[in-house]
Amino acid sequence: MKIPPDPDSLQSLLSEAAEARHQAYAPYSDFFVGAALLCSDGSIHRGCNVENASYGLTQCAERVAIANAITAGQRYFVALALSLTKAGTPCGACLQVMQEFAPRLRIILGDEKGTWVRETSLPDLLPQPFGFEK
Ligand code: THU
Repeated sequence: MKIPPDPDSLQSLLSEAAEARHQAYAPYSDFFVGAALLCSDGSIHRGCNVENASYGLTQCAERVAIANAITAGQRYFVALALSLTKAGTPCGACLQVMQEFAPRLRIILGDEKGTWVRETSLPDLLPQPFGFEK
């Protein structure tokens, strides 16, 4: 039986996202984003945005966290915490990448200090996702 994460672990996930935000490389936008992804085995994988002088090559924090988790051998994601200014929501490209692995993902949105602002979910933010019939 899977035990859902308790509120304390989700708050500490958000704190990890706020720490990851400090590593963001965002000299062009000055918009720093940190992510922390909780996997089904309890491991947490971090991500931050990584910008490039060729702007379109920028990597979002969420997708960096997902790639880190996949690289560590994880495939099942439970919750994603984000730390960013005004606790904004993930971009559409990141939502589609989340959809690939975790269609029911819980998403915790926090401000730049890691203060909890609200919880949402992937089905809320991407109600009609693209996907192939399985
Ligand atoms: N960014 C993210 O890291 N995640 C998102 O979901 C939206 C945007 C980053 C990309 C870029 O470095 C900066 O925020 C401004 O768009």
